[in-house]
Amino acid sequence: MTDLRLAIQRFDPSRDPKPRMVEYTVPRRQGMTVLEALLFARDYMDHSIGVRFSCRQASCGSCGMKINGRPRLACYTQVDELGGDSVVAQPMDNYAIIKDLVTDLGSFFQKHAQVTPRLVRSDAREQDNPTKEYLIKPDELSKVLQFTYCIKCGLCTSACPTVATDSKFPGPQALAQAYRYTADVRDQGGAERIESLDSEHGIWRCHFAGSCSYVCPKGVDPALGVQLLKRHVMSGKPPHLAEEASKEYRAPQTQT
Ligand code: FES
Repeated sequence: MTDLRLAIQRFDPSRDPKPRMVEYTVPRRQGMTVLEALLFARDYMDHSIGVRFSCRQASCGSCGMKINGRPRLACYTQVDELGGDSVVAQPMDNYAIIKDLVTDLGSFFQKHAQVTPRLVRSDAREQDNPTKEYLIKPDELSKVLQFTYCIKCGLCTSACPTVATDSKFPGPQALAQAYRYTADVRDQGGAERIESLDSEHGIWRCHFAGSCSYVCPKGVDPALGVQLLKRHVMSGKPPHLAEEASKEYRAPQTQT
């Protein structure tokens, strides 16, 4: 197999005036992931290359970066699937760079926390002294299940054109998680959760570009979550009832 030309964007904000691309030649093997190529370059060519990873199996969400121009997980992207003999690795957009391919996800997790990503209950006594489980039926679970697969890698937010222009916009990940918990029939905190999102920098800033859903490595559709959240706010009903209401809606007949 021919060697792989691996171009890495190098940038240390504490030292460098601007980012630069540095190319490394890496021996290629079948099934090699981009993360493995990066680690080869770091371990055998330049120990100072900054790259973040942990699980190596698309579970922890640490290795998000832009690969050949598209946000991807480095551990989940095989060199072969990219085609050609060269790979370009850059840090994710919409985040500050800590070093090279490592970005600062602080604001991302802050926005995630702001939507209260947990089931909120008002029965404090039951929670303090539980007498039974909080059950959810399979068909009710199916409405939110895909959103539970989010691994918080930040790829969706890096692809979002609205985040790029409005730093106060919560972003697709946080909004999809807001929907995930608000639509859960066991949750009682929807009104409070939605209050701050139904605002100038909230859900209405999403113009449904869909790039978040396009890049999600776990098959989550955050754009759908945002639209369902909008529907919930417009209908004024809990998401499961809003769904029923939308079925009753009839689009006006167009004149021909
Ligand atoms: Fe955990 Fe890639 S290293 S998702």
